[in-house]
Amino acid sequence: MPIYVKDNIFVLETERTQYVFGIDNSGLNRHLHWGAKCDPADYFIETFGDENSNHTMLDEYRQEYTVFGSTMYRECALKVRFSDGCRELDLQYDGFAQEGDTLEVRFSDRHYPLKVRLCYELTPGFDVFTRWVELENTGEQPILLEKVCSAEFSLPSQKPYTFRNTNGAWGGEGIECMQTLMGGTLVFESRRGISGHNQSPYFIAYQNADEASGDVYFAALAYSGNFKVSAARDLYSFTRIHVGLNDFDFSYTLHGGESFETPKVFCGLAKGFGDMSRQMHKFTVQNVLPQAFAEKPLPVLYNSWEATGFDVNAENQMRLAEKAAAAGVELFVMDDGWFGARNNDRAGLGDWFVNSEKFPNGLQALISHVNSLGMDFGIWVEPEMVNADSDLYRAHPDWTYHYDTRTPHELRNQRVLNLTRADVQAYLFELLDRLLTENNIRYIKWDMNRPFSETGADNLENPQMLWHLHTMAVYDLVDRLRARHPQVQFESCASGGGRSDLGALSHFDEVWPSDNTDAIDRMTLQKTYTLLRPVKTMRAWVTDVGGPNKPTSLEFRFNIAMQGALSLGGDLTKYSEADMEICRENVALYKEIRPLVQFGDLYRLADADEDEFLCTQYVNKSKTESVVFLAARGTRFYKKRVILRLAGLDPVRRYRLEFDGKMIEKSGAYLMEAGLAAHIRGADYNTVLRLFAV
Ligand code: DGJ
Repeated sequence: MPIYVKDNIFVLETERTQYVFGIDNSGLNRHLHWGAKCDPADYFIETFGDENSNHTMLDEYRQEYTVFGSTMYRECALKVRFSDGCRELDLQYDGFAQEGDTLEVRFSDRHYPLKVRLCYELTPGFDVFTRWVELENTGEQPILLEKVCSAEFSLPSQKPYTFRNTNGAWGGEGIECMQTLMGGTLVFESRRGISGHNQSPYFIAYQNADEASGDVYFAALAYSGNFKVSAARDLYSFTRIHVGLNDFDFSYTLHGGESFETPKVFCGLAKGFGDMSRQMHKFTVQNVLPQAFAEKPLPVLYNSWEATGFDVNAENQMRLAEKAAAAGVELFVMDDGWFGARNNDRAGLGDWFVNSEKFPNGLQALISHVNSLGMDFGIWVEPEMVNADSDLYRAHPDWTYHYDTRTPHELRNQRVLNLTRADVQAYLFELLDRLLTENNIRYIKWDMNRPFSETGADNLENPQMLWHLHTMAVYDLVDRLRARHPQVQFESCASGGGRSDLGALSHFDEVWPSDNTDAIDRMTLQKTYTLLRPVKTMRAWVTDVGGPNKPTSLEFRFNIAMQGALSLGGDLTKYSEADMEICRENVALYKEIRPLVQFGDLYRLADADEDEFLCTQYVNKSKTESVVFLAARGTRFYKKRVILRLAGLDPVRRYRLEFDGKMIEKSGAYLMEAGLAAHIRGADYNTVLRLFAV
């Protein structure tokens, strides 16, 4: 049994690790261990008193879930305000419930009618487990939640940890930032309404770790709204981390009889970053992604945005579709510009009716043409937004977040619809449902192109709830549409990767990770994306972007895009016959290696930023097949050869591969230990090696 409970000590065992906490004599929850497995019988809870009048025992204790109050002055996981004005919590332990791999540890306030349940779920076969918290107001008066984390973590070592997160931006999602936390607090957060392009809703904490070794502690929050991950190292050199909803401009009124469930956190301890990624890839596919398409390979798609912009019409989409079909594309997606008066970004958003000037025969004619070419059809929408110059806004100027006394600030000429309103939700559901019912659409690209501002919502008794309610409303709309239209895949996009977290991946099948389609930049962005998110969910387009500073060949761009869910996005009508042949060959190759890339084990063998070249390997479950991508923007100083030591193969099996123009056969042990000397030279170097067990 992976969960042992004895004398109020809870031992949770994953495949290779143990997570332990308990309840002490005074009813306090206490964290005891996260690391290698020990004998469960050895655990006990040490209690001690205040060190002196300034260093209290509550500050020193490592707790499992710290609540605000008493002589505890560090960061807390939970803070509430009771209706009589009391702002302190004092929890007592009420017991636990265990069912299979799920554990619920129960507390309630000693005076007020608030129940707190710490929830844990193990997943057999993984070192990843799931945590969340449930709150219940069992009284009559409302309780105001002011801060509610999904989980608190204590790291075992008193030496400093390095935190790996992002310090990105639009077009630069996934630019990484490693910081060693010596003291004070490190905060990664979003205050924008979406998880955003900047910092990421996870922590990855380590000491002396690399791709293949070292303890790596990680936790990813399944949430697409305002989040906060804060890590602090105290006087006693202990590192604690809080993960959950951002408490910035947040509060939530919990009425009598109501419950609140936090977003889930998927957390674990891995041996190296590679092991972390491989575990999270499999875990997410099996347990997080909507299951309809989780285990199915994602189609090669074409998206028209970079080719036609807003200037879409039946004619140019049909021409592009013909070229896409000739290249082997399986799904044709028409992007922005097909509806209302949407000729640019200044008008039409909100009017989800086909523009009859651009599509005189409706969408049907285009969809039939696409289908007759053997492809499925997909379409772009941005349901949460409205242009002031739209029929929707003219009819319902009160449907956006706003204050009557403040000037609404537009970004990209658009305002955010108040999705906490039932009438707005009903309007959007009805329109999107009709769009999917009347047309043979198999794919929705759900976009969201601006952060919130002027966050007034006078439909709400407590408008500070809107940040959270908006995210929940998006999830709810997508879930309801999926239930009605199970054949439709959903992609999450927010000006690129502004909503690419594991919360989005609990409702959407895939993500558009960045508007930056430059293959050189993608080498970095894709590495960060796949740290905690599955390769198959990462849409990667081959486009015409590159420009004079960073020219790359079409082959190079395919090499990079084939390392995710391959898609095409260039203006195919301008491609020469030779270019089309490159497209055909690479799409055909991708279809052969797709099971490896989308479902195999990923090994990052060389890093474009640190090693001058990128080397990424994918191996199938039975270790009978592997593919290795090599790409370099250009090597320096006449370097000659690099030794490629492969990974993940069966050491005793022999593998055949074409290398340096010759067929060779080597054992897995040789390929992983002695390695192959590769000649990586020149600008734009790219190659794909395929290995087959003999
Ligand atoms: C932002 C997205 O990231 C792009 O791919 C494209 O869909 C545009 N919006 C359309 O307005």
